[in-house]
Amino acid sequence: MPQPVLSLKNVTVYQENNAVLTDINLEVNHGEFLYIIGKTGSGKSSLMKTLYGDLKLREGDGEFVDYNLAKLRERDIPYLRRKIGIVFQDFKLLPDRSVYENLSFVLKATGWNEKREMDSKINEVLDKVGMKSAANKMPHQISGGEQQRIAVARALLNDPEVILADEPTGNLDPQTSVEVMQLLREINQNGKTIIMATHDYALIMKFPAKTLKCDSGTLFEVVQRTV
Ligand SMILES: Nc1ncnc2c1ncn2[C@@H]1O[C@H](COP(=O)(O)OP(=O)(O)OP(=O)(O)O)[C@@H](O)[C@H]1O
Ligand SMILES: [Mg+2]
Repeated sequence: MPQPVLSLKNVTVYQENNAVLTDINLEVNHGEFLYIIGKTGSGKSSLMKTLYGDLKLREGDGEFVDYNLAKLRERDIPYLRRKIGIVFQDFKLLPDRSVYENLSFVLKATGWNEKREMDSKINEVLDKVGMKSAANKMPHQISGGEQQRIAVARALLNDPEVILADEPTGNLDPQTSVEVMQLLREINQNGKTIIMATHDYALIMKFPAKTLKCDSGTLFEVVQRTV
């Protein structure tokens, strides 16, 4: 039996003293594509934050990319984050530097120092997202969809096992959303696990995958028809 990449047992996710989601039991295998849906405030981002170490796992057991989330120490967090790529709704590119510099900044911060190797890696990830020609552009010189492609490229830099995407299409028009989604599906087909929070039901219909819903403080699997 292959080990799951994520396993949560009897987990309660807290924001301050409020239990946002209780009694979560979840296993995600390598290579899966999983949607997390639910209305605003239902706990999607809180669950994602628990996975990338932004919220402490205070109750229950969690294993994610070989880290024990309940025992995660502050100093483990950068290493946990090297095993995952994170994509946000608002892209979070640094506005004062070029696409190339946005990517080299992350590589340097995660221990890379050979310029040739960095250039080759940056070229590789830009090629994967179809944005090689944008290396020298500033974020404001490219469209929202293109900025999100760069954010996906950035998430791929350290060859993560998993991509966590929190409403990656939330700021994009429907056509651009489909294009970013096609990119994420392609990355998933090349073997990466993707966990994506969204409330874009049209997109889920178009790209069906296993779907979990946050509702009334709990998380449960839904079948496509009833989302
Ligand atoms: N930093 C915070 N401090 C305290 N409470 C918070 C914090 N962030 C979120 N919450 C609360 O936790 C609950 C879940 O919020 P969360 O952001 O996880 O929802 P969400 O499903 O991601 O919503 P959205 O669709 O709007 O992004 C909400 O009641 C919210 O008010
Ligand atoms: Mg959210």
